[in-house]
Amino acid sequence: MKVLLIGSGGREHALAWKLVQSELVEELLVAPGNPGIAMLPKTLNVALDVDNHEEIVDYVKACGIGLVVVGPEAPLVAGLADVLRANNIPVFGPNKAAAELEGSKAFSKEMMAKYNIPTAFYKICEDVETAKAYVEEKGAPIVVKADGLAAGKGVVVAMTKEEALAAIDDMMGDMKFGAAGARVVIEEFMDGEEASLLAFTDGKTVVPMIASQDHKRVGDGDKGPNTGGMGTYAPAPVLTPELRQKAYETVLKPMVAAMAKEGKTYQGCLYAGLMVKGDSVKVVEFNCRFGDPETQVVLPLLDADLAEIMLACDNGTLDRVTINWHDRAAVCVVVASEGYPGSYAKGKEISGLDEAPENTVIFHAGTKEVDGKVVTAGGRVLGVTGFAADIRAAKDKAYEAVAKVKFEGAFCRKDIAWRALK
Ligand code: AMP
Ligand code: GLY
Repeated sequence: MKVLLIGSGGREHALAWKLVQSELVEELLVAPGNPGIAMLPKTLNVALDVDNHEEIVDYVKACGIGLVVVGPEAPLVAGLADVLRANNIPVFGPNKAAAELEGSKAFSKEMMAKYNIPTAFYKICEDVETAKAYVEEKGAPIVVKADGLAAGKGVVVAMTKEEALAAIDDMMGDMKFGAAGARVVIEEFMDGEEASLLAFTDGKTVVPMIASQDHKRVGDGDKGPNTGGMGTYAPAPVLTPELRQKAYETVLKPMVAAMAKEGKTYQGCLYAGLMVKGDSVKVVEFNCRFGDPETQVVLPLLDADLAEIMLACDNGTLDRVTINWHDRAAVCVVVASEGYPGSYAKGKEISGLDEAPENTVIFHAGTKEVDGKVVTAGGRVLGVTGFAADIRAAKDKAYEAVAKVKFEGAFCRKDIAWRALK
């Protein structure tokens, strides 16, 4: 079977790396892909306009593609999966109505409230006055979220009332996130430790993956501004087997059932961002796709055929697939460009990419090929994953590989997985 993967980041490199291991996959086409993806066996990057759904359908039909895997959220929220399914093309990823779980924080909160899925209390506000009055009533700390997609930047965790009020002005007054901030969700600040629990689902059967933890702040010790994610590890011990089971029973399973009941059957990867405190597990957010860089640690632990699972998620037979996990750990360290998450230079030549030691993989996140050389092209440049018997050894492996790759202005956090090792 030929598979088309949509996307170009570290998550897509990890998806591609796992997909080409499948015997079902004869050829993997990736639109637009990246230089790391292009180096995989059986793989070819293709230039397609991802926003042009008709062009994708025509391409898929012309090439005889048997499965389309959508990496990022934007095409899902825009309805790419709907168009493909309407053309009888198997696709991994939810339809537009189901992707609203990520596409609209208000919808997501309303679903959780309606189906008693544990989360922070909240209010959906359509205008500045209502929003500010709610902040005055509740006080700080409090969290202000733009309703729509804002590339991970639409959330302000306000430690003071003033910060919250300023965030409301930014989002609703100055429209800092455009239409995404026309409506905001204001919610209770939840204390605790975060974990990401992703699940495969065909709309009925739900199979949770191994829990992971992301490091969102740019600096060691979780200090400094938020980023897209500076590193991950799995399994995350904060989600004990009991709590993972609890998250499955009180979050993932009821949400998938609720979506089916609402006529918005959810198929693909459902990502639950969780806040764990003691034996309480509450939802921070849902995403409609794999996490980045969670995928770079979760998929190396998957001991099953990813293409088989993805097809089963589309055709409703996930209950017939055996999904095992390797009894080992993985750690991913993101190597970023100096200045990130602020502005940074691009075009720096990267060396050492082919020197990854055994049991490590260098996933490309923001790279580009120029005149036969691989250069930096983003803030997060590489995701370097190591695997080993336990987190400590996996961390050592990852940093061993990080030491091999060099470019001007490269930096990474030195403490990935610290919470697991403390
Ligand atoms: P989100 O995009 O909803 O995941 O929010 C981004 C980040 O903001 C999360 O990963 C959390 O670190 C933080 N956050 C979001 N909502 C809350 C909350 N209710 N309480 C505390 N932290 C939160
Ligand atoms: N690593 C966070 C996310 O993928 O949303």
